[in-house]
Amino acid sequence: MKKTFLIAGIISLFLAFPLVGKAQYTEFRPGEVWNDTEGNYINAHGGGILYHNGTYYWYGEYKKGKTILPEGATWECYRTDVTGVGCYSSKDLMNWKFEGIVLPSVKDDPNHDLHPSKVLERPKVIYNRKTGKFVMWMHVDSADYGKASAGVAVSDSPTGTFTYLGSFRPNDAMSRDQTVFVDDDGRAYQFYSSENNATMYISLLTDDYLKPSGRFTRNFIGMSREAPAVFKHDGKYYLITSGCTGWDPNVAEIAVADSIMGEWKTIGNPCTGPDAEKTFYAQSTFVMPVAGKKDAYIAMFDRWNKTDLRNSRYVWLPIVFKDGKVTIPWRKEWTLDVFGK
Ligand code: DGJ
Repeated sequence: MKKTFLIAGIISLFLAFPLVGKAQYTEFRPGEVWNDTEGNYINAHGGGILYHNGTYYWYGEYKKGKTILPEGATWECYRTDVTGVGCYSSKDLMNWKFEGIVLPSVKDDPNHDLHPSKVLERPKVIYNRKTGKFVMWMHVDSADYGKASAGVAVSDSPTGTFTYLGSFRPNDAMSRDQTVFVDDDGRAYQFYSSENNATMYISLLTDDYLKPSGRFTRNFIGMSREAPAVFKHDGKYYLITSGCTGWDPNVAEIAVADSIMGEWKTIGNPCTGPDAEKTFYAQSTFVMPVAGKKDAYIAMFDRWNKTDLRNSRYVWLPIVFKDGKVTIPWRKEWTLDVFGK
């Protein structure tokens, strides 16, 4: 009898606490260690999120192994070998399940864009309603960042495996830090730091999202902005960017436009609170609209650890729209309740 009680007790304990020993988050803690549901560090740097059929998918640089400064480097181009793009899924934006490496590196061809010796940064995935395909755009580069190109991969499922289609310089112009954005009308755009990072290009993609359409504008000419993160709120477009200081933090800027191709007007640093002038020691990567909530956007930043890049952290903060201003105040911890129920 006693034994039966003991077994029943153990079973109910497991039912009540199925994730004992594993990550189970009830709040966001910007800058702190963030584990996946298996208890491993979330590894999705320079990332972006796709919301599809009730699930969020977080894609990012899967950084493994030592960080090195290549021999003869003339600037702090710290790097880890490319392992590929990692993907995590979540329903609540706090607890993330690792879905695997959805675009793996290519180890047996030293000339391939995805060879471990190269650079793969800032992957973003968008869904094309017309073709039913998931399209990934990313920054691919040589170890010295001289190639400055955009890579494109495609998949039938959000969790891959993605097929790499190749790389090019969109509109015959350099492309480094980048993101992609789908507007309400289904048109998609690539934002990328071009002309050696001096100027931000905004390029309309073809209807299948696989290539530039040929229509593009040059923005923030000579202003050296990178790390673009775009969102639309109340019919206006917003763009958060950083300055260009390698892996080191600097002051963020937000710009607004009535039309996505410009003209863009810079309205200042959106960050407020301690270390706001250093973007909380982080750099923008994406802005995530929270599904089903009005005026609810999460600004995602990377807090780079330049000499140990795999140990970089994430800073996610809610965007506040108040008195005609757009701000990103520092918060040590927060929940989705900040957006109202
Ligand atoms: C800043 C960029 O935003 C990062 O993605 C990365 O390219 C580093 N520069 C490299 O120094």
